[in-house]
Amino acid sequence: MSAARQPLPHESAHLHVAGEATYIDDIPESRGTLHCAIGMSTEAHALIQTLDLDAVRAAPGVVLVITAEDIPGVNDCGPILHDDPILADGEVHYVGQPVFAVIAESREQARAAARLGKISYKPLPALLTPRQAHAAGAYVIDPMSLTRGEPDKALSAAPHSLSGQFDVGGQEQFYLEGQICYIIPKEDDGFHVYSSTQHPTEMQHVVCHALNLSQHQVTVEMRRMGGGFGGKESQSAIFCGIAAVAAAKTGRPVKLRPDRDDDMLITGKRHGFAYDYEVGFDDEGRILAAKIDMIANAGFSADLSGPVATRAICHFDNAYYLENVAINAYCARTNTQSNTAFRGFGGPQGALAIELIIEDIARTLGKDPVDVRAVNYYGKQDRNVTPYGQVVKDNLLHELLPELLDSSDYSARRKAIADFNAGNSVLKKGLAVTPVKFGISFNVKHFNQAGALVHVYTDGSVLVNHGGAEMGQGLNTKVAQVVAHELGISLSRVRASAADTSKVANTSATAASTGSDLNGKAAEDAARQIRVRLAELAAELYDCKAADVVFADDKVTAGSTQIPFSELVATAYTHRVQLWSDGFYKTPGLSWDKDTLTGNPFYYFAYGAAVSEVVLDTLTGEWKLLRADLLHDAGNSINPAIDIGQIEGGYIQGMGWLTTEELCWNDKGLLTTHAPSTYKIPASNDCPPVFNTSLFKGENPADTVLKSKAVGEPPLLLGFSVYFALRDAVANARADNSHALYVAPASCEAMLNAIAK
Ligand code: MTE
Ligand code: HPA
Ligand code: MOS
Repeated sequence: MSAARQPLPHESAHLHVAGEATYIDDIPESRGTLHCAIGMSTEAHALIQTLDLDAVRAAPGVVLVITAEDIPGVNDCGPILHDDPILADGEVHYVGQPVFAVIAESREQARAAARLGKISYKPLPALLTPRQAHAAGAYVIDPMSLTRGEPDKALSAAPHSLSGQFDVGGQEQFYLEGQICYIIPKEDDGFHVYSSTQHPTEMQHVVCHALNLSQHQVTVEMRRMGGGFGGKESQSAIFCGIAAVAAAKTGRPVKLRPDRDDDMLITGKRHGFAYDYEVGFDDEGRILAAKIDMIANAGFSADLSGPVATRAICHFDNAYYLENVAINAYCARTNTQSNTAFRGFGGPQGALAIELIIEDIARTLGKDPVDVRAVNYYGKQDRNVTPYGQVVKDNLLHELLPELLDSSDYSARRKAIADFNAGNSVLKKGLAVTPVKFGISFNVKHFNQAGALVHVYTDGSVLVNHGGAEMGQGLNTKVAQVVAHELGISLSRVRASAADTSKVANTSATAASTGSDLNGKAAEDAARQIRVRLAELAAELYDCKAADVVFADDKVTAGSTQIPFSELVATAYTHRVQLWSDGFYKTPGLSWDKDTLTGNPFYYFAYGAAVSEVVLDTLTGEWKLLRADLLHDAGNSINPAIDIGQIEGGYIQGMGWLTTEELCWNDKGLLTTHAPSTYKIPASNDCPPVFNTSLFKGENPADTVLKSKAVGEPPLLLGFSVYFALRDAVANARADNSHALYVAPASCEAMLNAIAK
């Protein structure tokens, strides 16, 4: 039996549950290790007038204090533009911005000393919300706009129209393992960097630039993260940059592990969005014209806001054909943390807007939103070109939705809920179905490449190294399964090793859900080359054709001979056959014109849909998710157990974003919700008592690794259904039964306000 397509446990599950999985803070510290803490800005926007760090230097255990001036190389950790100082240089742009760093003998000493800095500021005007920044014309990059058809003309000709405003908040990644970097100086000006990062190669670059080093001097190693969720795609760089300068200046190992509050104050989050929209539609609810301005809260610097906004533009259609459409996207420069990647990367923010519009069309026309969605889906033969020009070839929603509506008993429950609501004045139920279509590939073409290195040892065991980063998503398990499948051996023979820039060079971030698509293909390529060499040897030794040699069940069959895989490998070594190989992959067929915002940015689309039912207490705003039914397309899944975990996790994380996770900044620009005491992520008891999750059967028509589909991010959008179920309940609680909730998250307060409005 092949090791692929099996619901096998995560390769580290036995370590995770026993507390034995090594995270960076678990690595035994080298002798002489110092600890670093960060002194942060208390102003949202100001010039630094004086920086008095004498008390910090005099504090017990302090070895060194560094500021921007101490950075020997470039003071920048921006992944695209160079507008992201590692340490503030003369001006601060948000409350929490790193201004100086203290290096001490112990972590406690460093943290205590960091509080002793005396900084005087000359305050400057601060912009704290995306709408404020938009009104001031403050952006981190130029606005982007995409128009197809004649939206103005179609809008004025439409039988019905709606317009409105909607705002959605950001979201803290809340990886369980916080940001951390541990750097050990090596001989001859080399550095070994342990960073909890989705992007080891970018961390290598940042360290090199900050210290004026060549890339061969710096190795970044990353065995696993305790979650990244996008928050460690670029922003692990702040911590690598600071720790690198500290390690270089002291010549000693330096560890930088900010605590949760500091992590949340320093790092960027999912972009909150503000929207202004207009839509025209016919009696069936078919959208004839849509116009939207999307204002993303970029924070103080560009970071990844450009590609995030681009993905928001490319997901505004979600699953629907928009013949006449105008989308403007603005990356508003605010004096807050620099917002960054978070699962979905702008896709959720784009798609949420059209889903809200569809829900409003349905209420206006007195129709079931399911029917309004149905008339708007991309067609199979026609009405199948996205606003950016890519053809939707395989819209699975035509099959997937009926299957889900049936398995979730949607129609009967819709009636039962109407009856329940008619008989209850305090408790109101809500129900919603939302679909997702999510484009897979990095929207920067050259990032869509990966490398791998496979070693077969003489005992028949296999070590695979690839450019991807394990963050709990099961990437190493899937890649090992692919290698085992390719060599016809059991998974227990294959081990995946830590991502390491000295093994596979020039890697892309593990992001955009492409980890297994890219690295799985690269590892498959490497394993295949070894298999071909082994087959050639077996053919020669046992007198058959190489093409007829079969690798399966840890055995090799060549002609009439069958031998254990390990025996053939041992023989191959004595025949001087190369038993290791590199592998490479680049996604074919991608194109993107960033000036016109058109092309084929995605290799394929992944689909899914969810039905959620909630009950809302209209006196307190408390609510419960009663039941969820998820049906998601992972192509021909490499590991159904891991994929179901990703689907459920994504759904719950999406629910958190749109319900309980509320980021609040006060009028001084301080993020007041910077700890789990005030920032509420979903917990296990927020999962619904009835939770049905299935994989949609099928295979990827695109030539992906084992015909699977990426599954990391798309299911986050399934969580929309909880928000729209709550919004349904809120409308059902209102005297006029109209929609009144135009903000997300649907906090208790927001829902009570909407009921009262
Ligand atoms: N799952 C876990 N357990 N932890 C994570 O940090 N990150 C998500 C998703 N699933 C994440 C996760 C994000 S943002 C992405 S882009 C993908 O995993 C990245 O991994 P993949 O490309 O291998 O799916
Ligand atoms: N997702 C995540 N990271 C990225 C992307 C994307 O689409 N494009 C560039 N960086
Ligand atoms: Mo995921 S937001 O692309 O790291």
